[in-house]
Parts: sequence; structure tokens; C-alpha cells
Amino acid sequence: MMEVERVQGIASISIPKDTIPPEFIRPENEQPALTTFPGLAPEVPVIDFANKDEKNLVDLIFDASCKWGLFQIVNHDIPSDVIRKLQDAGKEFFELTQHEKEIYAKPPDAKSVEGYGTKLQKEVEGKKGWVDHLFHKIWPPAAINYQFWPKNPPSYRCLPPLSLEKNWEKRKQNIISREANEEYAKYLHGVIGKLLRSLSLGLGLEGHELKDAVGGEELVYLMKINYYPPCPRPDLALGVVAHTDMSVITILVPNDVQGLQVFQDNNWFDVKYIPNALIVHIGDQSQIVSNGKYKSVLHRTTVNKEKTRISWPVFLEPPSELEVGPHPKLVSDENPPKYMSKKYSDYVYCKLNKLP
Ligand code: SIN
Ligand code: FE2
Repeated sequence: MMEVERVQGIASISIPKDTIPPEFIRPENEQPALTTFPGLAPEVPVIDFANKDEKNLVDLIFDASCKWGLFQIVNHDIPSDVIRKLQDAGKEFFELTQHEKEIYAKPPDAKSVEGYGTKLQKEVEGKKGWVDHLFHKIWPPAAINYQFWPKNPPSYRCLPPLSLEKNWEKRKQNIISREANEEYAKYLHGVIGKLLRSLSLGLGLEGHELKDAVGGEELVYLMKINYYPPCPRPDLALGVVAHTDMSVITILVPNDVQGLQVFQDNNWFDVKYIPNALIVHIGDQSQIVSNGKYKSVLHRTTVNKEKTRISWPVFLEPPSELEVGPHPKLVSDENPPKYMSKKYSDYVYCKLNKLP
């Protein structure tokens, strides 16, 4: 297999002080030092998920989704140790040797994005983002491919028999990381149910109608781990370049290193890190189903000179064969459809290849 250069490898070799390879230097109109709003950033909405007044909760989520396309939720009932274990498992994956990580590399000809890799979006002029990643599906159970789970053998059944297992620590770690992901997925499932219901009610639909429109029980949760190593020139480079997510929504937990920025009122603002909060991004499919009411948020990430930033977004994706378009109840003669209906796989293909 062709060797792909990983950003983590580039970051670890001694390059002349305060320089980065030219392919990581963004054009001036993207450089964070020149384009981040210098003053006090307005705060992205923070929503208390324990709010018992459902109407009020729906209104808050609706407003945030229309104006920002991004909000943070607190008091969401995912225990902090469940989040911490997920984070430990992901961090440990990236701390494996390069050789061990490459075992999980996305096969070059694979159709799915799953696996370890360095670049997803086709970028102009061969520019690169300062980030490596690992993708693996975590829901529904039938969609899971354990081959790509951090430090996991293909399944429990493939663990070597205890008598042959020489490395006890490693065996324990394999089990821990699988459990950490499963545990997080289980809790996340509850949060997603409540979020999709609220987003649906906000549009004046029945509570189940938004979820039904994007795949119902077949909705796929795709976990990505973004690994941003320390960067000698965080003023010139970006982690993930400006984009909107193709998903319905994306739910993300970061580590404690600042880095997510959101584009709002023509400025790039830092999204304040709140310990244990979940960051919800409205994605393209919600914008489409809502016929433009919900805003698919433009965002990007910056990197840090000394610290490694890691984030764990989970993308909620319709099944690839499902056609997604503006919800019939949300279009009328006065409010005609603003978007074409497309199979999700076609949507992804067109967006990645910059086709209409
Ligand atoms: C992303 O948009 O893919 C990454 C966001 C983040 O790392 O906070
Ligand atoms: Fe994103």
C-alpha cells in the first residue's frame, strides 16, 4: 500500500524552528491570525437539556438552529466518566506506534470513509489541514464494522485465547476501548432522540417526522476522531478548513484545547470550551429537510502551538440510498422547495466533487 504522510509524523520530526511545510500554509484570507475576530466573541447559545418545559426547550433549540446552526448542550445526562473513557480510548489510539495505527488505515479503494486517515475533503491547490482522523460507525448495531474500532480486534471472538495472550495490559485496553465507544453510543442515542424530536417540533412537524425523513431507525451514527498535533505555526495553518457538515446534525465533544470556530455575521468566532458540554452542529440535511429554516453552520478549526487538540464528532447520516429533500409539509406554493431531493450517497458525491 502507498505510504501516506501523516500530520502526526510531520509534527514529530524536527523541522526548522517556527516553520511548517508550505502545503499547510493557508492563503491570507484563511489564516487564523488574520481572520479571527479580535474582540470579545458573542457567545454561542448554551442550552440546558434538563429544562422540563418542553415548549421552552423547543423554542431555544429552534432559535439557535435558525440563527447560528450551532449550540452547546449542558445537563444532557451523559455521565462525565463515559465521555472521559471515550476520550481516553481515542487518545490511546493515536498514541499507538505509527505501524500499529496503519493497521486501521482506510483501504484506498474502499467506498466507506471508515478507518484511519489524513484527509477527507478534496482541497484546492493541494493545501492540507493540520489533522489526522479515524472514522468508525457506532450505530445502528448492524452497521458497525469492528475492524475500524480503536485498538480492537475484529470482534471479541477474535481475541486470542487467554492462554495465548501475552500482553495482558493490551488485552484489557482492547476491551476498555470497545466498551467506551459502546457506552457512549448508548447514552448518545437518548440525547439524539430528544434533539431530533425538538428539532421536528420546532418546525411545526410531529415529533417523529424529522427523524422519519432522514432514515428513522436506520439513521447511521458515524464517529470521527480528529487529532490535531501541536503546530509550530498556528497563525498560518488550519486544522479542518471551513466547511458545513453533510450530516443531519453532528454532535461533538472536544478535549480542553480551544480550536472550534464558527462563521457568524461575516466573522470567525471562537466557540468557548465548556467542560462536558456537547456541541451540536446543524448539518446540510437538516437545512434541506427544513427547506432552509435551519442553518447548516459554516465552521473550521485552528490548531495550538504546544498542545494536541482532539475532538470526537458523531455525524448523523441518512442511509445512503435514502432520498432526502424538503419535507412535503414544509413546502407550498408560497414557499416552494429551495433544494433538490437527492439520494444521500449522491449528495455526498456531488458535494465532494463540487458538482451541483
Ligand atoms: C470538524 O468540523 O470536523 C471538526 C470540528 C472540531 O474539531 O471541533
Ligand atoms: Fe465539521
